[in-house]
Amino acid sequence: MAERILIFAAWPYCNGDLHIGHIAGAYLPPDIFARYHRLKGNEVVWVSGSDTHGTPITVRAEEEGITPRQVVDRYHPRFLELFQKLGITFDLFTETNTENHWAVTQEVFLRHWERGYIYKDTQKALYCNHHQGFLADRYVEGTCPYCGYEHARGDQCDHCGRMLDATELISPRCKVCGSTDIVVRETEHFFLDLAKLNRPLLEWIRQDKEHWRPNVLNFTRAQLESGELHGRPITRDIQWGVPIPLPGYESKRIYVWYDAVIGYLSATREWAKLTGQPNAWRGWWEVDRASDVKSYYFIGKDNIPFHTIIWPGMLYAYGGLILPYDVPANEYLNVEGAKLSKSRHWVIEALDVLERYDPDPWRYILTVNAPETADVNFTWEEFVRRNNTELVATWGNLANRVLSFAYRRFDGRVPQPGNLDATDRALLSQIEAGFQRVGEQIEQCHFRAAIIEAMGLAQEANRYLNIKEPWKQIKEDPQAAATSIYVCLQAINWLRVIFSPFLPFSSQKLHEYLGHEGGLFGRQYVEEYHETERSHLALRYDSSDVTARWEPQRLSPGQQLNKPAPLFRKLDESIAEEEVERMLAASGSPTH
Ligand code: MF3
Ligand code: ZN
Repeated sequence: MAERILIFAAWPYCNGDLHIGHIAGAYLPPDIFARYHRLKGNEVVWVSGSDTHGTPITVRAEEEGITPRQVVDRYHPRFLELFQKLGITFDLFTETNTENHWAVTQEVFLRHWERGYIYKDTQKALYCNHHQGFLADRYVEGTCPYCGYEHARGDQCDHCGRMLDATELISPRCKVCGSTDIVVRETEHFFLDLAKLNRPLLEWIRQDKEHWRPNVLNFTRAQLESGELHGRPITRDIQWGVPIPLPGYESKRIYVWYDAVIGYLSATREWAKLTGQPNAWRGWWEVDRASDVKSYYFIGKDNIPFHTIIWPGMLYAYGGLILPYDVPANEYLNVEGAKLSKSRHWVIEALDVLERYDPDPWRYILTVNAPETADVNFTWEEFVRRNNTELVATWGNLANRVLSFAYRRFDGRVPQPGNLDATDRALLSQIEAGFQRVGEQIEQCHFRAAIIEAMGLAQEANRYLNIKEPWKQIKEDPQAAATSIYVCLQAINWLRVIFSPFLPFSSQKLHEYLGHEGGLFGRQYVEEYHETERSHLALRYDSSDVTARWEPQRLSPGQQLNKPAPLFRKLDESIAEEEVERMLAASGSPTH
């Protein structure tokens, strides 16, 4: 029976371009996962969108002297462009500044309020005497009281991952005017009663979590077992965000982290509306109709507590909705030994590199060197080397050698094989088993192991080719050559599918060279959706007429091939140095 897989990826702040760390952390893994499950014939719904509220956006708007909405209008279309170019196939990538999202957020807020999981209280908040304003979240920085990191923000420490209350910061500094003349003042806010949620969350985290990544599980368990969860304010003294749905709070807004996670629910509802079945979301979320649905949240490690404590707590407090099945958070991707940092101009922006390189080599390097269990270090040298030795020399050359030979010597058709010998059968059964082995790794979110397994199969096929040497066989025994080439074509035909969740663009090319009809995958498109008073752009994915399957289908002898071309481009070795120099120049430091 088809499984039902609900996929989410962290909603990126819509205040700047995405870099390769974001891609490796939160967008490429779920794309591999979604493509695989679609090929398996499972039902997939995958949604996310731009995170458009809160101080991340207003700080940016102030820096640029434009409105928060203008910030969103600048970066959201660039996210859509990037996801199309890189083949990140969300069923829906929307944004939080929509009527739908506001309505769902307010509905959740009111339900939490009515069920007694939100309370009102006065809060001590930081106030800057110099420019005379409250300092919400990103408007203040200071030293983390837990780990001593000096650039912790008012909402979270990026170093140890703890959620913070701005008043906990040691030596706070105002980010608006730079002043340290900061005092604590009282202000009225709404609080999510996390203390009340501690016990149910602890019960939940103790059940069936063996498949969770150890770092995610240990972090979450430690927080829940410490019993120190306390009420957290979910409103702010700012003017940009979802309005509070109760009278008398017009000068405040709902906190961005409270509304953003609700995006998972609101976007599923938007997706349902767009498919013409507005109630379809219920079957994916409501406990009594969705008990078989597995929900996966793909995020970077800085987002862990929001997805393993706060959001599950919010879902529990709402009642009747399914809690996360897995939160396969990734660690960080460093570049050339240094942490990626926008402010220090040490970034590789994804859209920028796609101007110079094809998408599949990026999908490859960011998977084979994925930060799944530890921070990883990306180097340009490794990018060039792996492109040339693994994509070009191992997989691409295999496909190209076999296809060119078949195209030239067998009249552009898949030849009729003779009897298969033990070597032939050994290769075919090995690759056939790859569907199972690679598939199992993907299902467990071990994408790195999965792609290494797949590349190993390409190596096996190369070894076979070098044993059989069909270019020699054809001189003495054309039937033997036909058999070897048939076996190789069959192997690359299967590898085309096995590689396709990772390398969809080159797999599609191969699909065409092998003479298959149609596409391996569906179509991505951007559309503008009009609500009553607002409209927004969204990325969609249509896979309605895809017939490809994750299974070893037999390649028919006689099938007409198309003229092949190399799947990948070799990169000049000098590129590594040039790219590092380009980065150093941008960062303003000759040695970094
Ligand atoms: N915008 C946040 C970030 O970039 C992630 C939000 S994820 C969500 O770190 F769950 F809140 F949507
Ligand atoms: Zn100030």
